[in-house]
This record gives sequence, C-alpha cells and structure tokens, in this order.
Amino acid sequence: MMNFIKSRLTVTLMIIISSINTSGAVNIVPAPASMISGKGYFRLTPKISIITNTGNKAVKDIAGLINRHLTEFYNFSALPIENGSTEKNGSIIINLDENYSTNPEGYKLTVTKNYIEICSSAPNGIFYGIQTLFQMMPPEKKEISKIKIKCAKIEDYPRFSWRGLHLDVCRHFMPKEFILKYLDYMAMHKLNTFHFHLTDDQGWRIEIKKYPLLTQIGAVRSETLVGRYSKDNAVYDGTPYSGFYTQEDIKEIVKYAAERYITVVPEIEMPGHALAALSAYPELGCTGGPYKSATKWGVFDDVMCAGKESTFKFLEGVLEVIISLFPSSYIHVGGDECPKVRWHDCPLCQQRMKDESLADEHQLQSYFIQRIEKFINGKGRKLIGWDEILEGGLAPNAAVMSWRGEEGGISAAGQQHFVVMTPGSHCYLDHYQGDKETEPLAIGGYTPLEKIYGYEPVPAALSAENARFVMGAQGNVWTEYMASTAHVEYMVYPRAAALSEVLWSPKESRDYPSFMKRMKTMVKRYKNIGLNYCPNEFSKSKKKHD
Ligand code: ACM
Ligand code: ZN
Repeated sequence: MMNFIKSRLTVTLMIIISSINTSGAVNIVPAPASMISGKGYFRLTPKISIITNTGNKAVKDIAGLINRHLTEFYNFSALPIENGSTEKNGSIIINLDENYSTNPEGYKLTVTKNYIEICSSAPNGIFYGIQTLFQMMPPEKKEISKIKIKCAKIEDYPRFSWRGLHLDVCRHFMPKEFILKYLDYMAMHKLNTFHFHLTDDQGWRIEIKKYPLLTQIGAVRSETLVGRYSKDNAVYDGTPYSGFYTQEDIKEIVKYAAERYITVVPEIEMPGHALAALSAYPELGCTGGPYKSATKWGVFDDVMCAGKESTFKFLEGVLEVIISLFPSSYIHVGGDECPKVRWHDCPLCQQRMKDESLADEHQLQSYFIQRIEKFINGKGRKLIGWDEILEGGLAPNAAVMSWRGEEGGISAAGQQHFVVMTPGSHCYLDHYQGDKETEPLAIGGYTPLEKIYGYEPVPAALSAENARFVMGAQGNVWTEYMASTAHVEYMVYPRAAALSEVLWSPKESRDYPSFMKRMKTMVKRYKNIGLNYCPNEFSKSKKKHD
C-alpha cells in the first residue's frame, strides 16, 4: 500500500514538474529560492475570503495589507477576513505554522486554481509571501475580472539576514512622507534594514529635547555649494537650508517600518562628521569653536574632543534618546573619516592618551568607540560602525560596515566580528550608473546595474568558518548631489532591485539575463506607483559608458 501511495506521489510530482512553464509569466524580483509553476490560474472574484488560522495580530494586519493592495491597485472592494475556517476553496489562506521552518523570513506560497495558501513560521515570512503574491498580480491597474494569478508552488527564504538600504538625510533632507515611501519600496524588494544616516557635518536631523540647539542651530546651514567644489571658483546658493524629524516623526517612521518588517538602524556620527553638532555645542570640540554647519561636502578637521568628559556625557545623553526611539538591536555610531589633527594639538586629548597609555591618535579613536560601545552594550544594544573602527583595535562586541573595499569586512570577520559588506566599488548608489555626459551630476565612480548584480557579499578570502560572520550587504545613498526625492529614486532604482536579488536569492541562481527579463515587469510596477527609476538599461538606444 505504501509503495502504491509513493508511486502515485511520484507520478503526481512528475506531472507538476512536466508542466513547468518557463514562459516567464511569473516575474518575481528578487527571484524565489524555488518555484514550480503549474497549469492554469486562480481568478480573483468578490466571493473570495481571506482565512487566517491564528489570532496573531501581526498576521491579521498582513491580511489587511492584501485588501489595501487590492483596493489601491485594482479598485477592488475589501475581502472578508475570517479566522479558523477549514474551507480552502475560494480562499486565500494564511497559515502560521511554527514547525514550517527555522527561518522566520521563509515562506511557502501555493497557488492552485481553487485556492491560494501562504505558510510561514512567523509573520515576517507571511509578509514576504504576500509581497510575492502581489508580484504575481498584474503590474498595471486592471479591472478585477482580468486579474488571474498563475498556479505555482513557491518555497522561498533569504540568503542573508541583513538586506540593507541606507539614506543620508543630512546633506539633503528628505521629508517624512518620502521616508515612508522609501520603506514601501524596500518592502516590495524584501529589503529589511533601513540605515538612517541622521547626523553629519551639513546638518543634524533628529530632535533631541535635552539638547534643543542640535536642531535649532545644528539642523541649519547658511547656504549650499552649487555643483562641484572648486578651490578657486566655488559657487554657493546663498540660501539657508534646514530640516529635521521631530520625535513624533521618528516614532511614526519606526512604526511604519516595523509594519513592513523593516528594522530602522539609526546612525549618530562620532567623533568625526560632527560640525553640525559642534555648531550647536562648540564646547564639544577641541578648540571650542566657533563652528558652522558645513556648506560644502568633504571631510573636516574639527571633530569631537576625545579628552573631555563632557563629550561622553553629551553622547550618552543623545544615545539614551536614540535607544528609546529605535528598537533596533544595532546602533550605528559612524566612526569614519575622523582626522586626527585637532586631537594631536589638543592638551586634553593628549592628556587622555597619557592617562590611558594610548600610543597614538588611532588608539584614542579606538578608546572613544570602546567607551561608547560599553554604554550601548549596557543598554542591551550592539554597536556597529564604519570600518575605520578597526583602526587602533576593534571594540570587543562591535560589528563593522566595510565600505573602503572588502578589507575591513575580511579583517573583522577574521576576528569573528559580524560584518555588513558595503564596498564603494559595488554598493554606493551615489555613483554614476551611466554615461557621465548625459547622467545628472554625481559624486563619481561607475556602478552600472550589471556590476551591482554581480556583487558577491562573501569575500573569497574568507574561510567558511569566518564567512558566517557576513550578515549581508547594503546599498548606501549619500545625497551630496541628490537635492530632491525624485533624484534619490533615480539613483536607487533599479540598482536596489539588483542588490535585493544578491541578498535574497540563492547564489547559484544568479542570472543577469533572467533578472533583466523579470525587471521588465517590475519597471511597469515602478511606473504604476510613480517611482522615478533610471530607465537607462531598459531603453532601446542604450548608451555605452566610456
Ligand atoms: C563613508 O562613505 N564615509 C562611510
Ligand atoms: Zn581634544
């Protein structure tokens, strides 16, 4: 009897496999780990219900997202959401099953002619199953009677746990409404970590009530450089520039992100890239100022004084607020591009080096970051910083974001510290993506779509033992040359879509022609939602970069 059942199963399986449709009717980005598409379609009708098997509120909210999607995109009235029904036919079933997988982001999506079923061990996976389901619906607005979803069986899970996208809101401020959109776009691509770069030389962008001057003074710069900087002939616009998020804005952003299974990792820069903070509280610097928020781009010699106790008291006060606003396990403290000239000439910094037996200013930077790490760890959180935090000795529990190539990541993972790979060569979305003659002004570099698609986050130099410390990778979006939200969208998409496939899909299935074919449908979705993507790679007369 068992053999008979087995052979029946084999025959059924063979029928399913032989009916694989490779015509590309299902165009999902990032590509699922495995998909078998079957014959026929599930058709949406007003008689369908959404059935959940759980009282879990997060899952109920996700069911609500299906309705929101159907209403927004297809003008379809909301489907009833029922709990515990066993009638599969004519339903979209959401099945939370603790035993399904150990990966909370993994899911199974089954589409038959009669029902759709999404199964995961956690709401995260259910959410991603729904994102996939949305991509199986038409990319453009359609009448509901025309919506059919191809029969398929998808088993899917991400390759990496840190699928990041960053945004610098200091060089140019981006309104809260745009940040919410940015999060929506991330969710659509199954990206799960938003690195929010909140403070820099050109502006402090988050309200800290205890230190009101940070936003009253530090959020403002007197004017902004126009075009590229030239020593002899720099042009400034003469217009004051400002902007910051209130604590209420931040709470709304963090909640909105959480509803989309995105962690917001805040970055508070220290000890360098701190001119805006120094302009508000000049006593934090070695010379005492006066200082001004920067009006041009670059790296500046004035940094926070590492010799004064008051610097640490200030930063702990700020971090306390940051920790209360952001539930992320990691807090980013910057640490990059900190010139050491002021420390070299500062009696207090030199005294600190003597007292702590520090051999040079690099060790003083290490002391600085280790002290901040102790504070952050004491609050139950973990520190992450740019790869300069390796210099002078890595703080005991710190994670490293490798941006000056892969070396920082290789070194940190070699010391069994967690790393996020974000090398400038492949992951900087402020670089040119096409011909410099025709593209809008950018900081430099050249990272076309195919290059980022070909990025491998695990450096070849790492042993298998150390490779497990690579949490994932991230696209960085520095906004010196992006003054508008439309320009940000243009620089980020479609490159973030390529990165999403690098981070989500199995390494073996990476296939650029297949990605480009699926992107044709994704681009229609971009058009439909008004996302200002860069069309270079999708236009017929593609220009070559020199
Ligand atoms: C960086 O790009 N300065 C981290
Ligand atoms: Zn000093």
